[in-house]
Amino acid sequence: MQVALGSILIGISNYTYEPSLCRRKSAGKEKVEYADVLSLFKNKLEQMRADISLLQKHMSQLGRRPSVQIYNSSYKMAKEVLPPHCADILITSPPYLNNYHYIRNTRPHLHWLSLIESSAELKRMENESFGRFWQSVRSLPPIQLSFDLPQLNDLLSLIREKTPEKGVYGGSGWANYAAAYFNDCHEFFGIMRGLMKSKGRLIIVIGNSILQGVHVETDRYLSEIAYLQGFAVRGRHEVRKKRTGSSIIGSSIRHEMNRSHVNLYEAAIELEAPGD
Ligand SMILES: C[S@@+](CC[C@H](N)C(=O)[O-])C[C@H]1O[C@@H](n2cnc3c(N)ncnc32)[C@H](O)[C@@H]1O
Repeated sequence: MQVALGSILIGISNYTYEPSLCRRKSAGKEKVEYADVLSLFKNKLEQMRADISLLQKHMSQLGRRPSVQIYNSSYKMAKEVLPPHCADILITSPPYLNNYHYIRNTRPHLHWLSLIESSAELKRMENESFGRFWQSVRSLPPIQLSFDLPQLNDLLSLIREKTPEKGVYGGSGWANYAAAYFNDCHEFFGIMRGLMKSKGRLIIVIGNSILQGVHVETDRYLSEIAYLQGFAVRGRHEVRKKRTGSSIIGSSIRHEMNRSHVNLYEAAIELEAPGD
């Protein structure tokens, strides 16, 4: 019931996703004066019940009943809750390189649904997040990659040189953001290597990005970083050709990129863990 309430919460409030969370007033939208909370909540519960029945129907056709264990925790804690080399398959979609601030954007849910006890927990969650937030790394001295990938290094240098007149709001801040993101990708694959069984499969869904007008093929770099960590790249499947809603493509840059025909897409990369 909490999940159901969480999923309708923003729609019945005076917040809106644009795509980041902001007040309806700031987005030029009418105030929500009245909402039929009970009907919306009931409809959502009914949809969830239909989904659960569908799943149960499929599950009853399986030879055995799988058990489920959910760990409400960062992947960084994986080694503390799972034994080494226990996973046959890993399916995930980590945060994209678009500075979407999950913690800030889910603040109402975190508080209203008692998923956190105090605001101090927000800081801990932020520190455990995959990727740093641009706001927290833009003013730091230049962040270097913690691994050797010359092509990515060159790309970060290109971003770093853009719009120097904007100071940390220009290329240097965004290059720091991207370097910290790719360093986390490298750490992520290191942790996953310890969890995967020999020849286990990984499916990772990720979108490309445009930083300071520079196209970053995140899926390609993620594959190369995974390779550095011992994974073999078995495939790449484009799952969506057009995405909208990246918060970091300024309108002038979007215009420029449209002219050069760079599309935002999502791809699933398929990797294989090292063998024995
Ligand atoms: C691109 S979204 C994927 C969402 C998911 N596939 C879904 O459909 O709900 C990335 C998700 O990674 C989560 N995340 C960020 N840092 C994480 C971490 N250190 N450990 C686990 N999840 C994390 C974010 O909160 C966000 O929900």
